[in-house]
Amino acid sequence: MTHLSALRAIVGDHGILTDPSDTAPYSQDWRRLYQGRTPAVIRPATTREVADVVRLCAETRTPIVPQGGNTSMVGGAVPAEDGSQLILSTSRLNRVRAVDPVDMTMTLEAGVTLKAAQDTAIGANCMLPLSISSEGSAQIGGVLAVNAGGNNTVRYGNARDLVLGLEVVLADGTVWNGLRRLRKDNTGYCLRQLFVGSEGTLGIITAAVLKLVPRSREIAIAFCAVRSPEDALELFTRYQAHDAAAISAFELMSGLGTEFVLKHIEGAVLPLASAAPFYVLVELATPRPGGGMRSTLESVLEDALEASVVQDAVIAESEAQRAAIWRLREEHSEAQKREGASVKNDVSVPVSKVPAFIRGATAACEKLIPGIRIVPFGHIGDGNIHFNLEQPEGSDPAWFLAQDHVLMDAVNDVVRAYDGSFSAEHGIGRLKPYMMPDWRGGAELALMQRIKAALDPTGIMNPGKMLP
Ligand code: MLT
Ligand code: ZN
Repeated sequence: MTHLSALRAIVGDHGILTDPSDTAPYSQDWRRLYQGRTPAVIRPATTREVADVVRLCAETRTPIVPQGGNTSMVGGAVPAEDGSQLILSTSRLNRVRAVDPVDMTMTLEAGVTLKAAQDTAIGANCMLPLSISSEGSAQIGGVLAVNAGGNNTVRYGNARDLVLGLEVVLADGTVWNGLRRLRKDNTGYCLRQLFVGSEGTLGIITAAVLKLVPRSREIAIAFCAVRSPEDALELFTRYQAHDAAAISAFELMSGLGTEFVLKHIEGAVLPLASAAPFYVLVELATPRPGGGMRSTLESVLEDALEASVVQDAVIAESEAQRAAIWRLREEHSEAQKREGASVKNDVSVPVSKVPAFIRGATAACEKLIPGIRIVPFGHIGDGNIHFNLEQPEGSDPAWFLAQDHVLMDAVNDVVRAYDGSFSAEHGIGRLKPYMMPDWRGGAELALMQRIKAALDPTGIMNPGKMLP
């Protein structure tokens, strides 16, 4: 174990927390599935300090858990229970190094929150088209380390699609400066993409160059009541046929999940006259002035209402209404947490198979646990559904959580039948490494293990995460 005094000498008194009351919030995950323990949270303020810390840890073979905003849904950023792992927090690496509206790029340090990054881009009259529910706390380093997806994937792809360059501290303390901001750079293995999605198991991302897009000048958003996921998909295909390039988000919510939001989130209001089995949030946006988003939104909706594909709908008339509609969607996880214990399945299937998947997985879970409350929601426009399961009313939360593997396996059987993925955007973390041999076994997992061994030969980078 590395001597804490040696670490303190690198990062200074401000850069190290050792008091258990200070380290406790860093040692538990957002979902409260894991309560780890750590001798210290190290908070370097520069890339040089990160490199010196990692070099020291490599020499003493001290395991490091990199942590950004600690918003992982799969326990990806918390230490083990045995107190052997240090946490390296990126929160003090929080400088915006450059914004270039001509190149449409932004160079940020790992600890800048996603929300601050979005605001900085808007300040330069551009846009960072990545949005997730936890963006107020999630930090760029973590967002890239897990290749976050979110609400705009349908149009702009995932985090990895927005990365032009990276600066990474490798497992031996070497700094790789790959902060290039080129749109074309075809020079050997694409190393940055190896670190994006590696969940801190290969190195620590300390800075990144992100791609920006033109700022939306016109945004139109509707909240629609539908009878079923089939009708939600039908509405999606109608917008696709009409103007596919206009869709910036297309999100599904179940009636029950929305009920939880209305019950637990202060100020949340259903903007429709009556409740429905499912809801859809559709957002259209364009950087073109006078781009006709409102009329596109309306004309498809009118036809869909007439054809009874949509039962009722409201279009936001102000920025406040737009925010209120987004809030109904973004508070789903928080509301579900307040309602009780939940098992999350962050899965993806081809978009066309989402309704069949929801039906199949619902039947499988209801058969296993009568009274289980099914809360499917998420990014139907890109095929990523959060098939979340809430404990039956009045049941013991600990008993319910103990069923997690049985429930996740049953859901995954349905995912497999539709050629989907068992982890669409949250990553593997500590929750799902046991699934890896089954889903990615053979040559694929063996290749990942060889990469891990080559880049982190002493195994100090986020041990126990991602790989089984
Ligand atoms: C979201 O899209 O809100 C999160 O990824 C969801 C979750 O709780 O599974
Ligand atoms: Zn999501």
